[in-house]
Amino acid sequence: MGGGESLQSICYKRGSLRLLDQRKLPLSTLYLDIQDAVQGWEAIRDMVVRGAPAIAIAAALSLSVEVSKLQGFNGTPHDAASFLKNKLDYLVSSRPTAVNLSDAATKLTEIVMNSAATANDASQVFQAYIEAAEIMLEDDVASNKAIGSNGSSFIQNQRKDLPKLSVLTHCNTGSLATAGYGTALGVIRALHADGVLESAYCTETRPFNQGSRLTAFELVHDKIPATLIADSAAAALMKAGRVHAVIVGADRVAANGDTANKIGTYSLALSAKHHGVLFYIAAPLTSVDLSLPSGDEIVIEERSAKELLNTHGGHGEQVAATGINVWNPAFDVTPANLINGIITEKGVITKTGSDHFDIKGFVQNKTMSN
Ligand code: MRU
Repeated sequence: MGGGESLQSICYKRGSLRLLDQRKLPLSTLYLDIQDAVQGWEAIRDMVVRGAPAIAIAAALSLSVEVSKLQGFNGTPHDAASFLKNKLDYLVSSRPTAVNLSDAATKLTEIVMNSAATANDASQVFQAYIEAAEIMLEDDVASNKAIGSNGSSFIQNQRKDLPKLSVLTHCNTGSLATAGYGTALGVIRALHADGVLESAYCTETRPFNQGSRLTAFELVHDKIPATLIADSAAAALMKAGRVHAVIVGADRVAANGDTANKIGTYSLALSAKHHGVLFYIAAPLTSVDLSLPSGDEIVIEERSAKELLNTHGGHGEQVAATGINVWNPAFDVTPANLINGIITEKGVITKTGSDHFDIKGFVQNKTMSN
């Protein structure tokens, strides 16, 4: 599972996509067949598959499967490109906060538009789409491994005074949230592989319990020493000096480094600042949205009240008083001034003397040096 072994959230071969139903984990392992973009959209909205990179890849591949089964498309290469663009726009509407999905849709749309300009027939445009979507699946694992190794070396360097480190993470950012290995959980995997991880702590991550159901499951599976805590125990854990760093993922990072991630991340960052605990974001550059100057512009998804009123993501028994009002934002925004570094596949972005990050400068620098 660490790098794509036994249990994968996305099982794809050309013409077939199966998604692990994460709503059923950890008690049962059930894969759902996804035949087209509509089923892909529903699987994402209903949290069969979740996590910013996994959402983007699952969406792209659901359309890949639909396209590979198309019989006798009647139209020009440009019609094929418009067909794909409309489907991608529709898929983007499934969940608004994670930018990876719209980033993937923009890149794929550009590829099919370029292909339409030179293709002899529609099938060539569809072929170009399928190949590009398949590359996204492969690239994600490589990028996560680079995030893991960059993060592990950087954090070890920051805390040279300690022979072993304990870290806290939130939500699920592992194999299940990506094509494999994971982002923040990838850094934890790399710290463990480097022999410097004392212990990982994971929060339950109410109300959907991605931490207790999914992260705990991955940690146990990989035999990483780990402890589950209630979300509300995090400040006490830090006060007791039991964690040296918090490492979380991201759904959207604005140009100044403000970061949207699972609800509760902001509280963890505030606690970490108060207790002098390092706080890192681990995310691929596809999670960066340079069009947004700050986190104020990030759209936060609000989910159904049932997730709080009932158990099992809203599908189980009622646990809250009938008639109570509910506010259920799925994400919050952690301001850049609470973040010590953003760990990416191209290196760790740090602040130079100001309260925010220059992500655009970092990206330009990396592009030029390639
Ligand atoms: O609502 P979810 O489960 O999709 O939220 C997931 C998170 O917030 C993750 O931290 C983020 O997507 C990064 S996953 C590598």
